[in-house]
Amino acid sequence: MAQSRQLHLGAFMRPVSIHTGAWRYPGAYPDANFNFTHLRHFAQRLESAKFDAFFMADHLAVLNMPIAALKRSHTVTSFEPFTLLSALAGATERIGLVATASTTFDEPYHIARRFASLDHISGGRAGWNIVTTANPDAALNFGYDDQMEHDARYVRAREFYDVVTGLWDSFADDAFPRDVEAGLYFDPARMHVLNHKGPQLNVRGPLNIARPIQGWPVIVQAGASDAGRQLAAETAEVIFGAEANLAAGKAFYADIKQRMRKVGRHPDALKILPAAFVVVGETVAEAQAIRARLDSLVHYDNGIGSLNGMLGYDVSGFDPDGPLPEIPETNASKSARERMIHLARTENLTIRQLAQKAGSYSGLAFVGTAKTIADEMEQWLVEEGSDGFNVMFPWLPGGLDAFVDKVIPELQRRGLFRNEYEGPTLRDHLGLARPANQFFPAG
Ligand SMILES: Cc1cc2nc3c(=O)[nH]c(=O)nc-3n(C[C@H](O)[C@H](O)[C@H](O)COP(=O)(O)O)c2cc1C
Repeated sequence: MAQSRQLHLGAFMRPVSIHTGAWRYPGAYPDANFNFTHLRHFAQRLESAKFDAFFMADHLAVLNMPIAALKRSHTVTSFEPFTLLSALAGATERIGLVATASTTFDEPYHIARRFASLDHISGGRAGWNIVTTANPDAALNFGYDDQMEHDARYVRAREFYDVVTGLWDSFADDAFPRDVEAGLYFDPARMHVLNHKGPQLNVRGPLNIARPIQGWPVIVQAGASDAGRQLAAETAEVIFGAEANLAAGKAFYADIKQRMRKVGRHPDALKILPAAFVVVGETVAEAQAIRARLDSLVHYDNGIGSLNGMLGYDVSGFDPDGPLPEIPETNASKSARERMIHLARTENLTIRQLAQKAGSYSGLAFVGTAKTIADEMEQWLVEEGSDGFNVMFPWLPGGLDAFVDKVIPELQRRGLFRNEYEGPTLRDHLGLARPANQFFPAG
């Protein structure tokens, strides 16, 4: 039966694959995170499959792991997102380009300019993944001794969002008559000076760029804590969730849509796309064997480093073959810590087993054939666990090719995924309205 709702699919490109063993998989491109030819090829293949967006994760420090772990993973390093996505904008025509940028370590004027530029350069395909930066080492790269406290980061993020969106609205769409005869380039009556003076930020404006093609680039978030969810419910248009199973996904979905109703937003104005690690085989057994081989390539030093990072707490001094001790509250990402503690307790895992999962990928995974994967994705969509997925490829190019060649046609056959893009912009792909200019409502 044809589905009325369709899936939205993003491609999660944290230094190519989140899996720390990915670069060692036979046939993988170990240097893909710094090889533009490969990255361009990935983006073009994703576009040929009609993916909604190429999503570039970003971190403002090498991952906070000991060198013994870092030295074993390609995920330590990546290109700066705007530089990469601007280049990819010229190599693609339709796929959305989502860059991660931090509200903790950047300035709203910089962020507003960069996204407005990317949106114009790409013909309306930009999205901003708003992060507050959980990695405490980032502070050390920006002149601070310590990280800003978790909820304070979200307070700043909320004001930051108001300033950036206010700056994007600096000019009405018709503000630039460029009247050659009269010698009038722009109409000052169609320009708004923000004059923002707030608890955290002072920004005069206006932005020195015309309003973005999409009005505002698409607002994306992945916060999962109470503060993160609230910010998302008030401001986000896409959420990258991290729920590891359908029951958790449904609870998250219902919570976010409920929070949206409370702040007067229509639930359809936000698409929830959980991250999903997808391994495709000709048979379920083959897919499981691929995953097992991939996971075997995670070195223990790397696994324990990933685990410590997620917990925000160093457990390497405890017996690796014993249970996870009590972990105190920390200033790191709350959701990742809780997910790992939950996994350890419910599956009765030792620290070593948990480390293996942390280094491979411990969240939602679809491991099977095109048919079983499409079945699971369909179930999530129908039961309101999600509006689509942010697909994590196990390794590249093979894992990406398998998804594009096998899963996409199966989804299309079922009417669950588009055959053609709906329009030229990322908002068109996601079915999101172009926001009205808050200072010039008629345009
Ligand atoms: C799919 C996904 C992608 C993420 N990408 C990034 C990223 O690129 N950079 C970053 O600093 N944080 C990233 N995060 C972390 C989130 O921004 C957020 O800090 C985290 O989910 C914890 O939520 P909390 O901050 O509300 O505790 C990502 C999270 C998820 C689930």
